[in-house]
Amino acid sequence: MKRYIFPSSIETARALILHLVKLMIDDPDRTFYMAVSGGTTPALMFDLWANEYSDITPWGRLKIFWVDERCVPPENSESNYGMMRSLLLGAVPIPYENIFRIKGESNFRKEAARYSKLVKEEVPQENGLPVFDVVLLGAGSDGHTSSIFPGQEELLSTEEIYAPNVNPNNGQKRIALTGLPILNARLVIFHITGRSKAEVVWDMCNSGDTGPAAYIAHHAENVELFMDAAAGENL
Ligand code: 6PG
Repeated sequence: MKRYIFPSSIETARALILHLVKLMIDDPDRTFYMAVSGGTTPALMFDLWANEYSDITPWGRLKIFWVDERCVPPENSESNYGMMRSLLLGAVPIPYENIFRIKGESNFRKEAARYSKLVKEEVPQENGLPVFDVVLLGAGSDGHTSSIFPGQEELLSTEEIYAPNVNPNNGQKRIALTGLPILNARLVIFHITGRSKAEVVWDMCNSGDTGPAAYIAHHAENVELFMDAAAGENL
């Protein structure tokens, strides 16, 4: 796993935006399929992207999907789509038809099946799995990624593209991109900042498959870690 470490979360966000934009600019003749995570870490990146890097981004060639979603309506503050819409998607000229949200307000079993079918139809496939150009992941301090939590490792090998799941810490219903399509991506990028993530970052870089984030970090063919010094302090 390639590691990129920066003094602050802002510098990490800037570097990651420029990295993603460069990937698209270096391949100017095609559509770019990206699956994004939610949580708090990407909020800074989305805000910076909208305010400082929108003009250099080929929005018409970018299709946005979600790694996971909390089963709440878009206007709920917990919504990963709602957060990205308010900070980025509503502020840049990305075509509406390029945004494929998970409908958190729907029945989570039906929506997991609907979204799995949609992704199979919209995203190029290889080995019977979608091939995202980038799957952008975070990691919880407990070692989860996507919405796959420790103890739910069966979601790392299930045949479902997206699975209905539950956050065991609070019972919140989730819909999660599972392990095989994550590993099938051209590039997996972890975006992790903050001192609270120093242990999970150490695990991802040095331990065995101690949790879903470490497993993906160890088994993905092309995987990068963008982190700030605080998250990397134990390395
Ligand atoms: C989610 C995310 C999840 C997130 C980690 C880190 O819906 O919560 O997709 O996998 O990346 O929980 O979250 P923070 O960035 O809030 O620490």
